[in-house]
Amino acid sequence: MCGIIGYVGSESAVPIIIEGLKKLEYRGYDSAGIAVYNTPGFKVVKQKGRLAALESALNGCPVYGTMGIGHTRWATHGEPSDINSHPHVGSKNKIAVVHNGIIENYRQIKEYLERKGITFASQTDSEVIAQLAEYYYNGDILDTVIRVSNALEGSYALGIMCVNEPDTLIAVKKDNPLIIGVSGSGNFIASDVPAVLKHTNKIYYLNDKEIAVIQKDSVRFFNIGKEPLQKSTETVSWTVDSAEKGGYPHFMLKEIMEQPKVLRDTLRSSVDGGDNEKVLDSVDITRFNRVVITACGSAYNAGVVAKYVFERLCRILTETELASEFRYKNAIVDEKTLVILISQSGETADTIAAMREAKAKGAATLSVVNVVGSTVAKESDYCVYTAAGPEIAVATTKAFSAQLILLYTLAIRFSVKLGKITRLEETALLSELSLLPEKAADILKQVDSIQKYASECVGYKSIFFIGRNIDYSIALEGSLKLKEISYIHSEAYAGGELKHGTISLIEDNTLVVAISTNKRLAGKIMSNVEQVISRGAKVLLIGNCSEAEENEKVSIVTLPECGELFSPSLSVIVLQLFSYYVAANKGLEIDKPRNLAKSVTVE
Ligand code: AGP
Repeated sequence: MCGIIGYVGSESAVPIIIEGLKKLEYRGYDSAGIAVYNTPGFKVVKQKGRLAALESALNGCPVYGTMGIGHTRWATHGEPSDINSHPHVGSKNKIAVVHNGIIENYRQIKEYLERKGITFASQTDSEVIAQLAEYYYNGDILDTVIRVSNALEGSYALGIMCVNEPDTLIAVKKDNPLIIGVSGSGNFIASDVPAVLKHTNKIYYLNDKEIAVIQKDSVRFFNIGKEPLQKSTETVSWTVDSAEKGGYPHFMLKEIMEQPKVLRDTLRSSVDGGDNEKVLDSVDITRFNRVVITACGSAYNAGVVAKYVFERLCRILTETELASEFRYKNAIVDEKTLVILISQSGETADTIAAMREAKAKGAATLSVVNVVGSTVAKESDYCVYTAAGPEIAVATTKAFSAQLILLYTLAIRFSVKLGKITRLEETALLSELSLLPEKAADILKQVDSIQKYASECVGYKSIFFIGRNIDYSIALEGSLKLKEISYIHSEAYAGGELKHGTISLIEDNTLVVAISTNKRLAGKIMSNVEQVISRGAKVLLIGNCSEAEENEKVSIVTLPECGELFSPSLSVIVLQLFSYYVAANKGLEIDKPRNLAKSVTVE
């Protein structure tokens, strides 16, 4: 997820574009760039790093023009660097492009153009768009963009300029947002409304495969058949702040709501020839007799879920280790150990140290990371990426869910290689995974009832989470999420452990959140529920336990049917929403909880 913007009008484009990019930095912030048309061609300035780096580069060499495009990047292909930053210009300096999205057939296009003698400057998928456009250009940029769109597979929102048509900006999109803003002093394209709200709230929303031809005093629309389209503007009433949050009060809620798309995107990059699949195919799991998963915080909890899945499918010994412990315990790992590191940021100090410790002991390291080009990604032997995009809220939600679906895919792939499941079983498991985004969307529809229930829970001093087997692993995440943002003490326990001590804490009005998605163990967890109710507790039961009934003591959130191994991806959404609304009802600073940082880069 990157942020793109464009402007053509009567004013200087640079300050307008820089201001707009500042409002889009929540979409990506590892590098940025701008291209402005000033006769006879483009002036391109692009930098690795936050927007401030680009601003100081521009202060060093001022650029003037009344038409330009800009980009703030969230790397997916090619790590953050000056050359991989956008805009990308074709090798004839004729066409400049900013792109948000992923071109899935970029390798094929690149090889084709390289055979035509075209040389590429970057490692990105996006550069193929500029090079292909120049290759197709026939004097009509609209024609060219139509041909390019028909050749691309994947998702894209594009801003395109051509030196031969210096007063025209072209925009086209598929599966990624793109808006057109119209004002008296010029017209805009942008990934999102916040970028243009300072200048206008008159917005056209582009649909998939629609093309906008923008000049300073006109906007024309065409479909991919070059037929003119009539569209009308909508008036947006949001403030800039709420617009950045997509109209949600907090980034955390916005990121919870993004999970169906994030699950789809992460799965897409891990099957059917996606980049992650290529990495997984290169891992010879048969040379290992043990898997050690190590990470911190929520990433560690994702590892605990993965442990159950790996052991069940791969039948390989899988252990989880807190990275802060692993790094100092003189761990028993060697060249027959695959150490899996999980990290959203890829910059968590303890996880980096654990990785280096494992490598020093000869173990192979495979990392599951969300930030391209981060330390864990670069230093691990193998790296697969979650496609969560930038996660702004300190409390992870969408990146956690992306980690789960990627770890499921790893386990499925490895279990085939280990001969533990057949190709047929693999297909069945992968098709079950492909249903998760939709089921996640179904759960998000229950937001009102979860919000109502959570609003009645703000007074609890302590809340317990219980589950058995894989439900216990997700109870750990539920408890951490609640603690992080609501400041209510909570603990997670394996249901069977209650009677060995903790049940002494259960009294009148204690709240117990019980997770039960596993039919095999439903009876066991229900007896735990009865044990705590008989001691005065109230219970929130999350799962699909047909024998349970709602009453003044028990409230139930029913999950869509789902195989035992993948159910954490569904129950976690209820746990995230529950925590969010408890904290929201307490009026707390949810996106930036006290004492916490998004990436813990120190010990
Ligand atoms: C989770 O909501 C927290 N932000 C924290 O526990 C986090 O999971 C932990 O610091 C690990 O971060 P990482 O995934 O970036 O390595």
